[in-house]
Amino acid sequence: MKTKKVLVLLGSPRRKGNSAILADQIARGAKSGGAKVETIYLQGKNIVPCKSCFACQKKNSKGCSIPDDMQEIYLKLIEADAWVIASPVYWFTMSAQTKIFMDRCFALPAYRKDPFRGKGIAIAMTYGDEDPFSSGCVNALRTFQDAYGYTESRIVGMVYGSAMDAGQIRSNEKIMQEAFDLGKKLTEE
Ligand SMILES: Cc1cc2nc3c(=O)[nH]c(=O)nc-3n(C[C@H](O)[C@H](O)[C@H](O)COP(=O)(O)O)c2cc1C
Repeated sequence: MKTKKVLVLLGSPRRKGNSAILADQIARGAKSGGAKVETIYLQGKNIVPCKSCFACQKKNSKGCSIPDDMQEIYLKLIEADAWVIASPVYWFTMSAQTKIFMDRCFALPAYRKDPFRGKGIAIAMTYGDEDPFSSGCVNALRTFQDAYGYTESRIVGMVYGSAMDAGQIRSNEKIMQEAFDLGKKLTEE
């Protein structure tokens, strides 16, 4: 059987924060299922917002016109069988880093026909408030559902939980296990 490639995209500025910890658990689960995992820390990259030039949407486009670090990420996204997207809740939705990454994925079809089709996607989110509604996490989850449903990729699962200080999520054994199981599931489909 072909080794599955999983690409993890960390959308928090906290490299070792709560959403990154959940993403790492997903990665561990995926590795236990035999996958090869690569992690990209978006904050550490030079990725600017989409400028709506529409160069990527033109016939025979060669891709996004912005010569930044998304160029290498586009190729990795295409190569991967599954993506893990991890984000904290910032102001009742996903972090800006995560949203800029999503916007820039508008250009993906210029690199490969149907680049989203068949991709398995796992979402990991954390928030400081008590639950997914009061924290605003649901707004981001809904965005992921709409966006990836629209692009014909497949959300394999979403794990999310409450934690304010960096590392606090580790004490939530239930969600840590759920994240591990989700990673394993990514390799099974
Ligand atoms: C700028 C900023 C905005 C935040 N906004 C919210 C919010 O709207 N709702 C919420 O529940 N928590 C909010 N939080 C708390 C974070 O979501 C929480 O600490 C989360 O676990 C951080 O994840 P991380 O460690 O992966 O960065 C905010 C934190 C920051 C720094």
